[in-house]
Amino acid sequence: MNTSVKVVPLDRVPAPLLAVAVGALNGKVPTSLLSLDDHLGGALGRAISSGDFTGERDATLLFYAAKNPRRVLMVGLGRLAEMTRGAARRAAAVAGRKAAAIGVDQLAVHVAHEYRGGVAPAALGQVLIEGATHGAWQFRLKAIADAKPAVKTVDLIATREERPDMERGRHVGHAIAIGTRLARNLQALPGNICTPEYLALIARQLGRAYGFRVNVLNREEIQAEGMGGLIAVSQGSEKEPRFITLEHRGAGRTQPITFVGKGVTFDSGGISIKPAQNMEEMKYDMSGAAAVLGTFEVLGQLKPPVNVAGVIPSTENLPSGTALKPGDVVRSHLGKTIEIVNTDAEGRLILADALSYVRRFKPACVIDAATLTGAITVALGGAAVGLMGNDDNLVAEVLRAGDLAGERCWQLPMWDEYRELNKSEIADVKNSGGRQAGSISAGWFLREFVDGYPWVHLDIAGTAYTDAEQAWQGKGPVGIGVRLFTEFILGRARG
Ligand code: BES
Ligand code: MN
Ligand code: ZN
Repeated sequence: MNTSVKVVPLDRVPAPLLAVAVGALNGKVPTSLLSLDDHLGGALGRAISSGDFTGERDATLLFYAAKNPRRVLMVGLGRLAEMTRGAARRAAAVAGRKAAAIGVDQLAVHVAHEYRGGVAPAALGQVLIEGATHGAWQFRLKAIADAKPAVKTVDLIATREERPDMERGRHVGHAIAIGTRLARNLQALPGNICTPEYLALIARQLGRAYGFRVNVLNREEIQAEGMGGLIAVSQGSEKEPRFITLEHRGAGRTQPITFVGKGVTFDSGGISIKPAQNMEEMKYDMSGAAAVLGTFEVLGQLKPPVNVAGVIPSTENLPSGTALKPGDVVRSHLGKTIEIVNTDAEGRLILADALSYVRRFKPACVIDAATLTGAITVALGGAAVGLMGNDDNLVAEVLRAGDLAGERCWQLPMWDEYRELNKSEIADVKNSGGRQAGSISAGWFLREFVDGYPWVHLDIAGTAYTDAEQAWQGKGPVGIGVRLFTEFILGRARG
């Protein structure tokens, strides 16, 4: 993928498709687009004065010209008062989707100057690249003879004055685009290809490409380390579990920001088996791991002056004669014992071990991302990530990063009443608190294994993938977490 910032008049953009975003129009062509309207023989003016195109959010209108830019796609941003980073990112994503659908390999993107709101050129450069590449992303394993070419190049059209700032933003957006692409590709891969060892392979490749320290524990080593939760979940599977760590060193001996990602490469539920309906979606149960690996790709590209550790406990969750059973009691890495009441509550078992293991990094803070509970979809749908934590400052910092990233989070309470739900008669804790407040009892379960550092848990089960087409993204994986983690890191790097 290529991205660039170009200084060129709109009516001479050398690309087969130019997307121009505008907000609510008052029946007239915005001044900055008059020469573009000439290029289109006045068609833009007629579309606007007729009221057919008003600039409302997600609206599009495609024009054809005799020479490049041969296609001009108008995209609506919505009201000027709502002109935010998010609106610009979304309009660029709508354009990216359209470019992929048409089959052009090059897309130029511009936001009309009248509709920039308070979004500065640097931020604009970043979110336009994020959006355009997000919308244009496609994934296929099948060989299709008449497959349309993929969008390979995204150019941002700028003025000479704004170019340096926009270029800085483009650089960040490009890194995020590459990281998000990796995350989504990993999510999209089926469970027979994307196994725990496959995730380890990707981690090692990132390590080689960018110079991270990468460590991978196999089953024997995980056992020796005392990770009873990860061993328990994996014992029903032929495939070995992996415990993967990556370290980016950008700031000497300072304490690392630590990210933990759930890496269940397929979740059948185990002996507490899930219904067949939609079970194939459980290949996405490694979306937290994908977010961590995608973030490390961003780190490799940007090399920010901070230390970051990534931790991925990875396994399948399958039923068999050797599988974990309801009623079993296992001993976690921290030493607490866990009564298994539902083998489908497996994510918290492997995360418990990871949250205990991370103490050896002496983390500045720990943020985990996990497709942890179906209940979070009931509570928040696909509009927000569920967030819980033990530290108000860190919670606020992650909420801010999510807003900037367009990956919004919503905090759920961690009152003591909810902790009671996980009480066991025979062990320190049980692995399911029942149907009430399912996401919060899962959060509290994790918190039982958090010791000595500020921590935030992100439940991404409702946001990691979509099952409905949207104007700005198709069905499937969305790479959630990469943008949020990156904004969090960049926020800390700025100090
Ligand atoms: N991976 C699932 C959560 C999930 C559900 C993700 C739907 C994406 C979509 C998790 O391991 C799970 O099965 N959770 C159980 C917990 C219950 C047994 C306490 C759930 O949500 O039903
Ligand atoms: Mn499960
Ligand atoms: Zn799961």
